[in-house]
Order: sequence, then C-alpha cells, then structure tokens
Amino acid sequence: MHIDAPLSDVDPAVASLISRDVERQRSFVHLIASENFVSRAVMEASGSVLTNKYSEGYPGKRYYEGCEIVDEVENLARDRAKALFGAEYVNVQPHSGAQANMGVYFGLLDAGDKILGMSLDQGGHLTHGSHVNFSGILYDFAAYGVDPDTETIDMDEVRRVARAERPKMIVAGYSAYSRLIDWAAFREIADEVDALLMVDAAHIIGLIAGGAHPNPVPHAHVVTATTHKAMRGARGGLIMAKEEFGAALDKGVFPNVQGGPLNNHIAGKAVCFAEAATPEYKAYAAQIVANAGAMAEAVMGEGVRVVSGGTDNHLFLMDLRSIDQDLTGRDAAGILHSVGVTINFNTIPFDPRPPYRASGLRVGLPAATTCGMREPQVEEVGRLMVRALRNREDEGILSEVRAAMVSIAAEFAPYPPGFPGRV
Ligand SMILES: Cc1ncc(COP(=O)(O)O)c(C=O)c1O
Repeated sequence: MHIDAPLSDVDPAVASLISRDVERQRSFVHLIASENFVSRAVMEASGSVLTNKYSEGYPGKRYYEGCEIVDEVENLARDRAKALFGAEYVNVQPHSGAQANMGVYFGLLDAGDKILGMSLDQGGHLTHGSHVNFSGILYDFAAYGVDPDTETIDMDEVRRVARAERPKMIVAGYSAYSRLIDWAAFREIADEVDALLMVDAAHIIGLIAGGAHPNPVPHAHVVTATTHKAMRGARGGLIMAKEEFGAALDKGVFPNVQGGPLNNHIAGKAVCFAEAATPEYKAYAAQIVANAGAMAEAVMGEGVRVVSGGTDNHLFLMDLRSIDQDLTGRDAAGILHSVGVTINFNTIPFDPRPPYRASGLRVGLPAATTCGMREPQVEEVGRLMVRALRNREDEGILSEVRAAMVSIAAEFAPYPPGFPGRV
C-alpha cells in the first residue's frame, strides 16, 4: 500500500465511519457543553505529519534528535497562550484535561496530600477527588459544595471548610456550574490557609480567551484547561502558572505523567490560540453567553426550573423534576436524542438520583454558537425541547418537534454538505 493512498482506499471501513459521523454532526442540534466544532485549520494541524515526531522533553532540551521544528511549534503554542491569557508559564503538552490536572497534582503535591475541591455531584469533575479516579485514590480530598438555597458557591462556606481542613491545594473551576466564579475570593482563602490555588478552567477557558468570563490567571497559582471544549481547538490539555512553578510543573507532566508529546495536537492548539486572538472569536465568546442566557430564559418561560435561576456562562442545568417527578435525566436525554438533539444528563445539586439516572440535563451553547445560532434559534430549540419532554408519550408531537429540530440543524450545520471530515 502506498503511503499516500487515500483513507477510502486503504481502509474503507474507517473512512465510511468518519463520513457517517460528519452526517451525524451535520444533522443534530448539539448541546453537549464540552463539545464543539473545530475549524478546518485546526483539523489540518492536528491531522498533520507532526504526529510522526518523538520529542520527549521540552523545547531546547529533548531526548531525541530532529526536534528543531517541533521545538518551534511548541514555543509558538506556548507564546500564543502566554499572550492570550497573560500567563508567565505555559505547558501545552498534557494530552487531556485530566492529564493536565494529574500533572499539576504530581508536580506540586505529594501523594496523600489534602486537596479541597467541589464534589462531583455538585458540579466538580472526576479529577477533583472522585473515589473512582486517580485523584481520589492518590490524594486525600475534602469537598465544598453549593449553597442549598441559592445553588451557588457560598465563599463563607468555602472559607469555613478550608479553615477546618487546612488543604495543601484548593481547586476551583467546574464541569457543571453556570455562574461566574470569584477568583480573587478563592485566592484570599487559599492565602489564609496557606494553600495553593488551582483553577480548572477546562469548561470556561474559551470564554476567558474571548473576554466573556473573568480571567483566573492573575489570581491563581496554577490554571489548567482543555483546548477542545468552548475553546474550540485541538483535543488536549493546557497548564498555565506563575514562573516559579514552571520547573515543577514541567516535571509533573513529563516524566511524571506522560511520555512523548502529541506534536500534531500541539500545532492544533497553536492554531486555536491564534484564532482566539481575533475579534471574531471575541464576538463568538460573547454570543455563547448571550445564547445560554436566552435559552435558559426560554425554558424557564415554559415552566422549567433552572438550577440557580439562570446562567452567566456557556451552560445551564435543567431540573427535570419541574417537568415531571418521574422523568430522569437519562430518559430525557434519550428522548431529546430521538428528536434531533444531542445533550447529556447530569446530576443537579443535592440530586436524590444516582449519576447514571440523574435529575438534570446539562445544556451547553458553545457548539450551537459555532454553528451560527443566535437568540431566536436557541430560544426556539429550548421551547421545542420542553414540548418534547412534556409530551414524550405523544408520537405526533414528537414527530413535529423532530421535523422542526431537523430543519434548524440543517440550516445551522457546522460543516458544508460533502465535507470530508478529515484532511
Ligand atoms: C472541569 C473539568 N476538568 C477536567 C476535565 C477533563 O478533560 P478531559 O476529558 O480532556 O480529560 C473536564 C472534562 O470534562 C472538566 O469538565
């Protein structure tokens, strides 16, 4: 087989699966808060021959020859991220958000150290201390949550728990929290108890890059992120910090956690950082927040309870018990998928149901915003979703909703018809 033979000749099975997924991506309304559609430019960099290069180490200090060019790629990505976020130190090597967090824990802490994070069932992430994750297995996590009445973070409560627990590190930044986070208040508490502040900005880093959410970089000792969610870049992780932590964090990622970096994806990260420095990106970030707010208002207008009464960022949580006490998140997500929406179920704070059934839907707007949807379309999608869920036994109504959803998806598809989905 020739090295330059096209995928469709070499492996028609995989080529056909990719084409089918292009069609799936083109024919649904996408509301999974952590997903997005990358540009062709990002795809080209991520799919490039840079995948061929081994380069354990860091620019200027590698364990392999022939790294001159990937050194430039990695430096470009780091410099762009430094400029974009005002960071002193950047590491673009983590293969994912989970590995960025792991690299930080390994680099800055010892196994068994106490870390204070938000519990998973209140909006935190697996890597913030879940007992089924390395974080909860290797470290001694304590948890704070949201206030039961406001469903927002109560900084007095965080301070109380921090004083009682005396953690070595406090983690702020979440997977399912829809409000602005007071980075300065977190730093104040961290300083008071002599802890490091790590902000996990995986979900909101795109909003931060576009100026639509306050930047944690000036406040936190270290900030981790993913580059593939609202950020809309290559799939992977990112660490930013004050320079004084650089050497320890470099070591935390390589050799503590990873081997050779994924140079193709580092190039894809560099491209997305350049894209994020444009006025179009700023408008995109602002539109995500406007769309999330508009859709939350629309579903609340249909009588649905939204956790904390709304949103300041790219996502919100619907409490399905306000539609029907018996409707679980898992069932609701399945019903919505059958009418043309991809979405994920999620626990809501103080959820009486276990995570695999859950009482909520997490609704995210980055992907739909990338597709060009604005307030009128997302409001319509919100109303249609509630109509489907309220009438889930009525096949006639479900097919009406499906037809409307298919037509919105077709008008606001991420990629043009015939797009190959690969480069
Ligand atoms: C807050 C937070 N941190 C870390 C991660 C992990 O990212 P990845 O899936 O790339 O490992 C996620 C992913 O959902 C997340 O929401």
